[in-house]
Amino acid sequence: MSSQPSVKLIDGKAASARVLAEVRAEVQALRGDGIQPALAVVLVGSDPASQVYVRNKVLRAEETGIRSLEFKLPADTAEAELLALIERLNADAEVNGILVQLPLPAHIDENRVLQAIAPLKDVDGFHSENVGGLSQGREVLTPCTPSGCMRLLRDACGELRGKHAVVIGRSNIVGKPMAALLLQADCTVTVLHSRSRDLPALCRQADIVVAAVGKPRLIDASWLKPGAVVIDVGINRIDEDGRSKLVGDVDFDSALAQASAITPVPGGVGPMTIAYLMKNTLVAARLQRQAPRGARIPEDAACPSLS
Ligand code: GUN
Repeated sequence: MSSQPSVKLIDGKAASARVLAEVRAEVQALRGDGIQPALAVVLVGSDPASQVYVRNKVLRAEETGIRSLEFKLPADTAEAELLALIERLNADAEVNGILVQLPLPAHIDENRVLQAIAPLKDVDGFHSENVGGLSQGREVLTPCTPSGCMRLLRDACGELRGKHAVVIGRSNIVGKPMAALLLQADCTVTVLHSRSRDLPALCRQADIVVAAVGKPRLIDASWLKPGAVVIDVGINRIDEDGRSKLVGDVDFDSALAQASAITPVPGGVGPMTIAYLMKNTLVAARLQRQAPRGARIPEDAACPSLS
């Protein structure tokens, strides 16, 4: 099958480099005022994938001039000990962002830990205060992956208003906040999930498809209307032709026949997540300067960096 005549590859590496350059410039300006934004990254245990993610987050922070503080705790750390560390970081005026790498060991209540992070330092945007603020359309810290997807979409589509966006997947980290951000951008939003009926037919109505289901190459050309813009959040490791490789939730080669623009895997959404973590750290530093400690983010907070 031949591809759309002008199918555009959405380059997440290049887009993330632009975001990081913006962050670097803003960090420099803040440092001129004697402020250095700082991000605390907490890792419990020694899950190899989490170790790689944390190392990359620390490296990106250093590259952008954000001070990073790394806390590596053993896998048998008591929940109370982790909560005490978060309390200390919440109270430390020099720490602007706190990220606790997930998943946590099974004996620790993930929700209790995420709720313990001060909302103004919650650079993951997972605290219920920030989740609620997003659903009410307030300008709050929003989850990094969906925020990165929005930037890619704005770059690829320009105006999003009135477009029909289909989000496939309803996770707290991607699907639900993605739907909320698209709604805030005046899209018509449909969320599809494992219990939806006739997924391909519903998906074919979409101008924008955001796939975040964790199923390798689930979505092929038959799910797409001609000219759809496709954002593939999936990162799935598969064995193929005797080799291990990363593929998305979208069958990339097949989708080229219908899409007008599409993210590759790897090199699409992935790099945007860390870039938006840095951006959120900067936004958190700004919000903390605006608000007295412990205060809620004002509804009309001027927060251009979130756009
Ligand atoms: N583990 C996998 N993705 C994420 C993320 O976005 N934030 C945190 N804190 N942990 C993760």
